[in-house]
Amino acid sequence: MMAALGSAGRLIQFARSSVSLSLRRRSTAAAAAFAQTPDTQENRKPKTGILMLNMGGPEKLEDVHDFLLRLFMDTDLMKLPVQNKLGPFIAKRRTPKIQEQYSKIGGGSPIKHWTSMQGEGMVKLLDEMSPETAPHKFYIGFRYVHPLTEEAIEEMEKDGVERAVAFTQYPQYSCSTTGSSLNAIYRYYSNRADRPKMRWSVIDRWPTHPLLVECFAEHIRNELLKFPEDKRDDVVILFSAHSLPMAVVNRGDPYPQEVGATVQRVMERLGHCNPYRLVWQSRVGPMPWLGPQTDEVIKGLCERGKKNLLLVPIAFTSDHIETLHELDIEYRQVLGEECGVENIRRAESLNGNPLFMKALADLVQSHLKSNEPCSRQLTLRCPLCTNPTCGEAKAFFANQKLS
Ligand code: FES
Repeated sequence: MMAALGSAGRLIQFARSSVSLSLRRRSTAAAAAFAQTPDTQENRKPKTGILMLNMGGPEKLEDVHDFLLRLFMDTDLMKLPVQNKLGPFIAKRRTPKIQEQYSKIGGGSPIKHWTSMQGEGMVKLLDEMSPETAPHKFYIGFRYVHPLTEEAIEEMEKDGVERAVAFTQYPQYSCSTTGSSLNAIYRYYSNRADRPKMRWSVIDRWPTHPLLVECFAEHIRNELLKFPEDKRDDVVILFSAHSLPMAVVNRGDPYPQEVGATVQRVMERLGHCNPYRLVWQSRVGPMPWLGPQTDEVIKGLCERGKKNLLLVPIAFTSDHIETLHELDIEYRQVLGEECGVENIRRAESLNGNPLFMKALADLVQSHLKSNEPCSRQLTLRCPLCTNPTCGEAKAFFANQKLS
């Protein structure tokens, strides 16, 4: 039982991925000018529906319990003994602590705010770039908070969408994140007698998309300029991604390799201007997790005289609790002071960057043109996967007839 609780504790940290609040809306003004208001698409009769998939995060403190409950009941994310009893128990027990973390970052998660803005910008561009598949409408499908994936699918069916694109908002694929959302779409239909009315396809990963890479590079360049000029060349860039339990890595999850691919492309784009490392954050508990851990690396570098550090969140596209609390408060403020750093900064999350909306639109346009239901990579299960739903969900997408 204790082991299970420890494991669940770690997984909750992993699932904090989508969580946070309305801090750092630094790109809001630029993006607001670029994006339409959310009302604009309400009246749209869409031909193509784009379902933006993510874990989601509680918008208010009172949403935290239900968020945790859904998370601990997600058998694609974690397997617990007697999950239908243990899941609710852990969710209840964890709620006060997680609520406290959310209060420190302003009281809730900004993920819906950013996803809506990104979606609006994306469909506005798509209507211009791809009139043959217009009108486009975006839908948000969160795993653990409203609007839930299932609710979004219902709305898409009700809207009479002809062509549906399940678009993961995680650039790098993990079975714990994107895989869980795809399994949810598959289950939605397998639990019903009706076949989908929409033709489905999926954008399941995009770790090296050139505009994504350019966005990261741009945010790094901007942040490097804020270091004192005489220190700038000495800055170590730390790309920080959410860690995974080694049990997940060792069953063959593609996430670590794909995160590495993003880092490689970004550094190439930057002309290898500074030394760098890929580090992993948010490990909890005594079991082995993928490392090196971000906090230990910060300490280790400071001890070795490298005291100018730039943290770059590389595996999420919006602010969340790991950027706003873990990186900004725990590492930059508290740990940074303890270690005696000279300068420690964080690159801004992609949030409302108009170039990022262009990246999303470009991904969808190319995907629709390809007429492929999914990537070849999606069709391969993890070599040590024991979850039969993974295979069924992959077959569901791979076998969609698009024309
Ligand atoms: S856990 Fe990766 S395919 Fe099932």
